[in-house]
Amino acid sequence: MTSQTFADAVPATSTLQIEAISPAVGGIVSGVDLTKPLATETVRALRAGVLEHGALFFRDQDLTREQTADFMARFGTLGTDPFSVAAKHPTKDNAVHNMPTYAQRRATAVWHMDSTLAPEPAALLALRALELPPSGGGDTCWGSMYAAYETLSEPVKAMIDGLSAEHSAYKTLPLLGGSNTGYLQADMRSVHPVVRVHPETGRKALFVNELWTESIVGLSRHESDSLLAMLWAHSRSEEFTMRWRWRVNDIVLWDNRAFQHYAVMDYEGNRVLQKSYVQGDRPRGPFENG
Ligand code: OGA
Ligand code: MN
Repeated sequence: MTSQTFADAVPATSTLQIEAISPAVGGIVSGVDLTKPLATETVRALRAGVLEHGALFFRDQDLTREQTADFMARFGTLGTDPFSVAAKHPTKDNAVHNMPTYAQRRATAVWHMDSTLAPEPAALLALRALELPPSGGGDTCWGSMYAAYETLSEPVKAMIDGLSAEHSAYKTLPLLGGSNTGYLQADMRSVHPVVRVHPETGRKALFVNELWTESIVGLSRHESDSLLAMLWAHSRSEEFTMRWRWRVNDIVLWDNRAFQHYAVMDYEGNRVLQKSYVQGDRPRGPFENG
């Protein structure tokens, strides 16, 4: 019998590992240094990981804005919130920006996907923690809209599969109040399918969110409000959601096409996260081709 030392069993280079937080959402990544250029197979493994787990969490990544942008650019074309200041100047540098104001905090303490009032909402998003409140708090939650869809009853799935909904700033503008940057306009709106077929996985995800979705097309106000309230209550379930307690230099990469998020507003003092975007495509429903 050959004996093998422990050192022999450890690979010479660190290997990427992803530990699931729950079956529905979240994976903790280890064995990768994002300050270094990533090998193609590492990017491939991370893309597969983000599609599977929805949100990937990396610890201890002390990245510059440039390095964060370079990392995100490996996954697609960098973009910005269509209504942000940075949208007016979409350079590589300001694709990575901070969102520290109180009013922005209020608007993110609602379950949402980013920028769904745009015709082509962000595909992937990242947040990196620069500064956290001294007294704790300020966690962020993520939830799987695949799981939310899949656990609906068959009659409800059949009913919503062919529906579409209007997304607008009707709720966000009042939340932002005077601190709207001026780029978010009352007439910005898009119609998207209520059930989105994910362009990469082909899985169906519930695609209505409490921040941007205004109404379901073709339903009365009462029908639309009631149906949306039911779908939102269902999608907030503990079974499909998780909560992340930040440390400085954590970065999370997530799939905005099938996962929603919520910023818990339970803290005082500064909390600065740097956000970056990878552009998405037009959401398609179950009955659309190509
Ligand atoms: C956002 C957002 C989450 C957070 O920037 O759109 O939802 O935890 N942020 O700040
Ligand atoms: Mn958000």
